[in-house]
Amino acid sequence: MARLPLAVVTGGAGFIGSHTVDALIAAGYRVCVLDDFRTGKRANLAQHAGSDKLEIVMCDVSHGIFAALAPVTAQHGPVERIVHLAAQVSVVASVANPLVDMAVNYGGTLHVLEYARAHGVKKVAFASSAAVYGDVATLPVAEETPTQPVSPYGIDKLASEYALDYYASVHGVATTALRFFNVYGPRQDPSSPYSGVISIFADRAKAGRPLTIFGDGLQTRDFVYVGDVVRAIVAAVSDGNSRLVANVGTGNEITVLELARTVVDLCGGKSTIDHAPARSGEILKSRARVDRLRDQLGVVAETKLVDGLRATLA
Ligand SMILES: NC(=O)c1ccc[n+]([C@@H]2O[C@H](COP(=O)([O-])OP(=O)(O)OC[C@H]3O[C@@H](n4cnc5c(N)ncnc54)[C@H](O)[C@@H]3O)[C@@H](O)[C@H]2O)c1
Repeated sequence: MARLPLAVVTGGAGFIGSHTVDALIAAGYRVCVLDDFRTGKRANLAQHAGSDKLEIVMCDVSHGIFAALAPVTAQHGPVERIVHLAAQVSVVASVANPLVDMAVNYGGTLHVLEYARAHGVKKVAFASSAAVYGDVATLPVAEETPTQPVSPYGIDKLASEYALDYYASVHGVATTALRFFNVYGPRQDPSSPYSGVISIFADRAKAGRPLTIFGDGLQTRDFVYVGDVVRAIVAAVSDGNSRLVANVGTGNEITVLELARTVVDLCGGKSTIDHAPARSGEILKSRARVDRLRDQLGVVAETKLVDGLRATLA
């Protein structure tokens, strides 16, 4: 059998990572997951148990990835592509411990880029975040909007984007940074206090428990289904673009109140919706401009919220 091209997915045991692994294997790659399992789970990859197309290596990316990948490449050949998703994912934790955030979210990116430079990796796709924008007055948020992150998490994502651009221009490593908006879907962990609002609402509504909204619920978000995000990731890591930065969202916004009502309806209407005091510093409105995603990566996030919610609730 011909040797399959090898793709590395850092953070591949996580929510977005495990869906990315599914898609890359379906697209004909052998995949190596590097993960330290701080929030990821082996169960997210259980569907590939026994497959010879998936290697899972325990590795903290903030300590480097050369040693972890050496035995894999000795057996399966060089790494062709890297999807870099591993991160400390909590904005709140980044405020409490900015040095850890920097080591994992910026340092981890540098380790990935050093590997890509040294081994001639063809493409690196990176999970950036709408957090690089901070509070934006004008919607939709375009990639040209001035970046002004308001947390260490946002700062380290933006610093990683600068590093990607530097490695692309100076060392010739082709890179794409994808600025994810609010991603939701199956396998998102509702037990984490930092998890996406949809996974928390879904978990509560399924159990008939009340849903709590902070403030009046009129804050808006651009919720994008994980299946659409993964299409963007696969396009970004496979294509010939370099130095591209692209938003990943739907281009639509909905209020958190509307979201809560929809989730409650889909779960049979048993839960009440409560309001708690607004959280200081919370961004009020968010909606991505998505022309670049469509024009440069050929991806339109077309999953309707109600369909994505049904898949999430199932
Ligand atoms: N979910 C969203 O709405 C969203 C929005 C913007 C950006 N992102 C970014 O997308 C990426 C994936 O997020 P997710 O929502 O799937 O979260 P997740 O917590 O499910 O996935 C993160 C994965 O990275 C792993 N990881 C963390 N630190 C690591 C380290 N030092 N070394 C190796 N592995 C490590 C975790 O164990 C986990 O498997 C992250 O980079 C996150 O910042 C997510």
